[in-house]
Amino acid sequence: MAVINGYELSEREQSLNVINLPSLENLAKEILPKGGFEFIRGGSEDEWTLRENTIAFDRVQILPHVLSNISEPETKTSIFGLQLDTPLVMAPAAAQGIAHIRGEAATAEGMAATGSLMTQSTYSSKLIADAAAAGHGAPQFFQLYLSQDNDLNKFLLDKAKEAGSKAIVITTDLTAEGYREADIVNDFHFPLPMANLEDYQVGLGQSDAGVGHGKDVFDNEAHQIGVSDIKRIIDYTDLPVIIKGIQTPEDALLAISAGAQGIWVSNHGGRQLNGGPASFDVLKGIATAVNHQVPIIFDGGVRRGSRF
Ligand code: LAC
Repeated sequence: MAVINGYELSEREQSLNVINLPSLENLAKEILPKGGFEFIRGGSEDEWTLRENTIAFDRVQILPHVLSNISEPETKTSIFGLQLDTPLVMAPAAAQGIAHIRGEAATAEGMAATGSLMTQSTYSSKLIADAAAAGHGAPQFFQLYLSQDNDLNKFLLDKAKEAGSKAIVITTDLTAEGYREADIVNDFHFPLPMANLEDYQVGLGQSDAGVGHGKDVFDNEAHQIGVSDIKRIIDYTDLPVIIKGIQTPEDALLAISAGAQGIWVSNHGGRQLNGGPASFDVLKGIATAVNHQVPIIFDGGVRRGSRF
């Protein structure tokens, strides 16, 4: 097993009997180092919003329509002209090397096998181009954390474009870092370099600047984001821009007025800001306000298909 900065990187490969997502989580808990597991699983403060995200699905039910005369239900959908076999897309989870040495490369392979698309994170453990190459030509989006350094923003947008990304997802809900108690207890800091940030620094001849390691990655981010920031990115890129972290109809309409071509309803899985409503509870109001002007992607609390 490889050890990097004191962190044991899993290289294990075995077939898993995945009964459901909670059973997979239990297996991960047995295998991963405690700090890494809690970073992936955990939310901020007392994790109220994290729990609410899943509980919200218990408050609504799907009405079975039994006289539909359908034997082969169809899950195909499309977004920005991309044909997908399923409407499930991979949200931009950071630093996947924490879970396995193959990190985002393995996720890209998996998403390609599902016939759907992966969103790569700015804080990927692999370079954008490397995770793109692992995706066997399946479409991918790239998630951008807006940096205070606009040259870094442009660098990442250029790399995403070169690697064939089909859209840019700007995360807007992490202008302040969450109070993540488990990470404090475990003294957890990202053990692996953030490949894309390191790539930028190496280009600048600053490979020791430190932004690619540890929690200080967040210091690099914009601490305020407004409509003008979104417009600046939309002006720069010719890819469709989706605004992620939207939790109110007002913000959805502001984003669309700035030129956003998609809205991503999310509260970051309750990982950073605690106390806000479940993502599912705000979806309907946002969808009503958006009124089909642009596609909406949703995340938060999804644990099994029968309850969404
Ligand atoms: C998270 C940030 C880094 O893991 O996106 O919540």
